[in-house]
Amino acid sequence: MPTIAFCTIKGGVGKTTLCAHVAAALADAGHRVLLLDLDPQAHASLVLGLETRDGPCVADAFGPRPKHKLDEVVVVSPKRPNLYIAPGAPRMAALERELFGWGHRLQALPRALKTLSWTPDVILVDTPPSIGAFTEAVMCFADVVVAPVPTGAFALQGLAEIETAWREVREDGGQLVAAVNLWDRRTPATNVAMEEALKDVTVPVLRARIPRSESINQAGLGYEVVFDTSPNASGAEELRALAQELAKRAGLR
Ligand SMILES: Nc1ncnc2c1ncn2[C@@H]1O[C@H](COP(=O)(O)OP(=O)(O)OP(=O)(O)O)[C@@H](O)[C@H]1O
Ligand SMILES: [Mg+2]
Repeated sequence: MPTIAFCTIKGGVGKTTLCAHVAAALADAGHRVLLLDLDPQAHASLVLGLETRDGPCVADAFGPRPKHKLDEVVVVSPKRPNLYIAPGAPRMAALERELFGWGHRLQALPRALKTLSWTPDVILVDTPPSIGAFTEAVMCFADVVVAPVPTGAFALQGLAEIETAWREVREDGGQLVAAVNLWDRRTPATNVAMEEALKDVTVPVLRARIPRSESINQAGLGYEVVFDTSPNASGAEELRALAQELAKRAGLR
């Protein structure tokens, strides 16, 4: 199962925005998509149409004594019948702390996936802005780990930090890639400097440049994806191109 995860230590760089849009774009392209929302903030679940609720959350299928099978946790997105979501919830922060004392914590993700009775075409994972037990388990398993890089100062420092963390948990295989987000056509000098700096990074940088887009931000404010609010707006095409690029890298047919 090709698995694509969005991870950074730095917060607010676009992990959830890119993850939710790639999930929606791949579902719209006809794939059966499973999104694991491992962020207690649960923004990806909300953006993809789920209401805040008290039901089981993705972390209930994790750990030494899972309360639920993943089958019992997953819900279908109300907007896309082939997009399945294992939702996040604020109480996951406490569940994550329990994982730390577990000897198999780095295998938490494949163990949880064994409790799913069907095979998704592709798995997308959103993570919180920290290297906790969830993020480590995800980086250990995902075929492609995407680190969104915002255009501007300190961006590449954040990339170096996640690269170190990824290399520490990842024994072999897998790819860490950078995705440039918040690209602003109105700041050409910054863009040139950014492209120069990107030449020196040691991980592959994806071709897609996701623009800073009012429409993407507005869609998020309304807990929607831009494909549903303004499908032709600035950024929508680039997000679809990002989804295609990632699908190819992850080996999705
Ligand atoms: N390309 C973009 N254009 C406009 N706004 C964007 C873009 N990408 C992200 N944003 C906005 O930036 C904010 C942070 O994005 P997002 O929540 O996706 O980041 P994150 O890395 O998931 O944050 P956290 O670390 O808290 O989980 C949100 O308000 C989002 O709408
Ligand atoms: Mg997020």
